[in-house]
Amino acid sequence: MDISGKVALVTGGGSGIGRAICVALARAGAQVAVVDIDEAGGGETVRQLRSKGGKATFVAGDVSSPAGITGIFDAVSAAVGKPQIVHNNAGIMTADTPGWPEASLERVYKVVTINAAGVIMGTRQAVALMKDTGGVVINTASTTALTPLPRDAVYASTKALVVHFTHSCAELAESHGVRVNAIVPNATETPIIAKTGDGVTMAPWLAPLLEGVELIKPEAVAACALDLIRDDKAAGICRVIDFDGERDLQAAAPPAQP
Ligand SMILES: NC(=O)c1ccc[n+]([C@@H]2O[C@H](COP(=O)([O-])OP(=O)(O)OC[C@H]3O[C@@H](n4cnc5c(N)ncnc54)[C@H](O)[C@@H]3O)[C@@H](O)[C@H]2O)c1
Repeated sequence: MDISGKVALVTGGGSGIGRAICVALARAGAQVAVVDIDEAGGGETVRQLRSKGGKATFVAGDVSSPAGITGIFDAVSAAVGKPQIVHNNAGIMTADTPGWPEASLERVYKVVTINAAGVIMGTRQAVALMKDTGGVVINTASTTALTPLPRDAVYASTKALVVHFTHSCAELAESHGVRVNAIVPNATETPIIAKTGDGVTMAPWLAPLLEGVELIKPEAVAACALDLIRDDKAAGICRVIDFDGERDLQAAAPPAQP
């Protein structure tokens, strides 16, 4: 897909990987709808995009409920038109609380509704909206989907869901004209895992896991997302961005459908 002139909706666009994706999309000529629950972060992304001549609009929204999702898609369509690129990127860990299983029930529920339900509902809305015009959905998974993560079992499992869901959506390219793909980053330099300032701080259980590791730059993750958007053959691809390069996860072929 040629990104120039398209409306792109990015959830979690107010920080980290989402912000880097908004920057890259704006640079490629998209009209970017920056969606975030955090108005200050979303507003800052819009300011940065506009300061470089990009087209950007902030839409406040919460991806964790059906009403939140329909509100986001309605507001974006009304403000800048129907999106043809939708990136379901918003996500949270329990890492900034005690982690699993001490995290509160409320926090556990939030991780599930934002990371898993938010991606499924966002994809559902995108397909409903884009099936006549065609479009691309990108979901943000994580390499925590691939190996057990005892201290954040909930987060890792929601990311495994995103991988399986994305593989399962491959055929929507043919049936609905919408290509659904996922990026699967390893540890990336963003506030979700590290607060930078006077020094890098992480949840005490997370720090030893990442000791000595050079975190991936959000810009590298954004570049991978844009590759998948541009590649008209990419459907159901889950692309890992790892410390030593990129690779696609292989899914078993689905059984023949009746
Ligand atoms: N940083 C990493 O190491 C890493 C690695 C793999 C995957 N990821 C994934 O990348 C995505 C982005 O994470 P990040 O590292 O940029 O973190 P981040 O904390 O910098 O950004 C997440 C953004 O999502 C927003 N958000 C949270 N809840 C929301 C909601 N209910 N509705 C709308 N927006 C909401 C936050 O306000 C924030 O702006 C997440 O899905 C995360 O799981 C991150």
